[in-house]
Amino acid sequence: MDFKYVEVNKEEEIAVVKLNRPEKLNTLNLEGLRELLEVFTVLERDDTVKTVVLTGAGEKAFSAGADIKKMEKMSFQEARVFSILGHEVTKKIENLNKPVIAAINGYALGGGCELALACDLRVASENVRIGQPEINLGIIPGWGGTQRLSRLVGLSKAKMLIYTGKVLNAEEALEIGLVDLVVKKEELMSKVMELAKEITNKSSLILSFVKKALNEGFNMDLNRGCELETELFSLCFSTEDHKEGMEAFLEKRKPEFKGK
Ligand code: CAA
Repeated sequence: MDFKYVEVNKEEEIAVVKLNRPEKLNTLNLEGLRELLEVFTVLERDDTVKTVVLTGAGEKAFSAGADIKKMEKMSFQEARVFSILGHEVTKKIENLNKPVIAAINGYALGGGCELALACDLRVASENVRIGQPEINLGIIPGWGGTQRLSRLVGLSKAKMLIYTGKVLNAEEALEIGLVDLVVKKEELMSKVMELAKEITNKSSLILSFVKKALNEGFNMDLNRGCELETELFSLCFSTEDHKEGMEAFLEKRKPEFKGK
């Protein structure tokens, strides 16, 4: 895949998607968003990819968000299109049929934070600076920040962050659960790849079931969520991987899952 703003590399069964505009701190314009949408659409259909890592090129940033230069002159209609496209991208990441890990290497601001929020897991380097500073630009978050941040850290903490535009450091982000893990800057990619490999060893099919149960169940009432779990739990029993997992346990060996 050959793109201007995004780079994709495969390491065995893990795809590393890199936002690639380091001189502008990996900010995203319409073209960058379209590329990102295409990348994730292709990765969704690629059965050789089991886990995806999203990160930013360069030393400083995961992404400093939407391109303010492009937004400055946007009309109401253009802003709407920009927001809708951002939502398409974040929904595609959130609902991807495989786990997506954000490797947050520095600034994750505005749309950058929103991309990270759409991922399944967030691992940050100790120099992370993360938040939703849109209020300082006279706008609100537009790619899911008002919705996903509160679901992750709670409504009150999301309001505190979004109303003030405060940017958190690693310790603060970890404390409120905005990131799951903080690691040394130079170890970020090795730790994330370690985690990705651990997940990749599981059954990709069963992971897709459990991701659906967790994500869809989170937006349902408890009873409906438990019904969904029952549907997906029983579906596991029609797979080869459930047989392999249980046989391997009983035979005291490591399972070899095929994603079937
Ligand atoms: N849009 C456009 N350009 C940006 C940018 C952005 N969001 N963030 C950084 N840049 C550009 C800078 O203008 C600069 O370009 P030039 O070299 O051509 O001047 C280059 O990237 C490097 O940035 P800085 O020189 O500012 O680097 P710094 O280390 O001094 O500061 C920073 C880093 C604190 C992240 C600062 O760049 C900053 O505050 N950026 C804006 C962050 C922000 O507000 N993001 C939210 C955007 S709105 C949004 O995302 C809406 C949404 O929900 C979709």
